[in-house]
Amino acid sequence: MAENLVSSWSDGKTLPESYVFPPETRPGNHVVPTSKTVPVIDLGEAKGLNRKETIQKIIQASQELGFFQVINHGVPKTVVDDARDTFKEFFELPLEEKSKLYSLDLSKKAIVYTSNVDFDKEEIHNWRDSLRLLCTPLEECIQSWPEKPTRCRKVVGEYVREVGKLGSGILELICEGLGLEPGYFANKLSEQQVMAVHHYPPCPDPSLTMGTRKHSDPGLITLLLQGNVPGLQVLKDGKWIGVEAIPHAFVINIGTQLQIISNGKLRSVEHRVVTSKNEARFSAALFIEPTRDSIVEPAKALVNANNPQLYKGVRFEHFIQMFRSTYVGKMEDVM
Ligand code: OGA
Ligand code: NI
Repeated sequence: MAENLVSSWSDGKTLPESYVFPPETRPGNHVVPTSKTVPVIDLGEAKGLNRKETIQKIIQASQELGFFQVINHGVPKTVVDDARDTFKEFFELPLEEKSKLYSLDLSKKAIVYTSNVDFDKEEIHNWRDSLRLLCTPLEECIQSWPEKPTRCRKVVGEYVREVGKLGSGILELICEGLGLEPGYFANKLSEQQVMAVHHYPPCPDPSLTMGTRKHSDPGLITLLLQGNVPGLQVLKDGKWIGVEAIPHAFVINIGTQLQIISNGKLRSVEHRVVTSKNEARFSAALFIEPTRDSIVEPAKALVNANNPQLYKGVRFEHFIQMFRSTYVGKMEDVM
């Protein structure tokens, strides 16, 4: 029910029991400093003489942390600003408008949900409302996207086109850095795109709840617009570190399929989102994923006597099923 959307009932004062996480998985009052540990990589450098060095930085960050940020990435500022404004406008629409899209059916091209699509099964909910948009094939999907705000389809369509291009570019750099044949990912392995736009309303007590609980992204690679309000945290050596909010930068993280293909060289790392007491936060994650029928396995070129094969090949569809069934209803939920 759309009445479950946090933004529809929260008075900003009370935190219902069903949003209170157990002490071991809640942020508590421990302050996590935002950190310079997550490398900020200037992609403009990849175009010139520093290409090799830039690729090296990407591979190193993906190996050590599974996360990096990119600036100078070629996605025009106006495209980012317009999309960000549109996401905000969408979540500010009256409940009646958002209810039209409320659904837990992942096969639909546009749904609004809250916490997780497993809302009805989970014990504790995330403090967030979300809009999920299927993006492939784009022209067809757009027809089912929200009609309001009026410019939503145009602006978000343009955003997905641009950020998708950036994703392909980064995958090319990773491909080269891993020593794989050119275009290794430029096929079914990266054909599927899904976007999740999250709205984290101001929360009465951020120490007790999570905006997004700990998880890793199951796909190939994720491009996240964190915007101006921080909240994303990454697990490094058993400790949470905050990812600095850099306006117009994208946070890139390695998904589980890329960990498999790289035979464990690149890491898909757990992350989470904390809420803020005073500010609403909007983020947008573009997930680049294999098609459901793709078989994902370690690249042959990366398996040898010194690097034995760590993972079996798995059909992405089956991987997702396993991923979901392990997580459903438990604290470590998906997405
Ligand atoms: C996700 C995610 C982070 C954020 O959607 O998988 O990790 O900042 N989002 O909302
Ligand atoms: Ni994630």
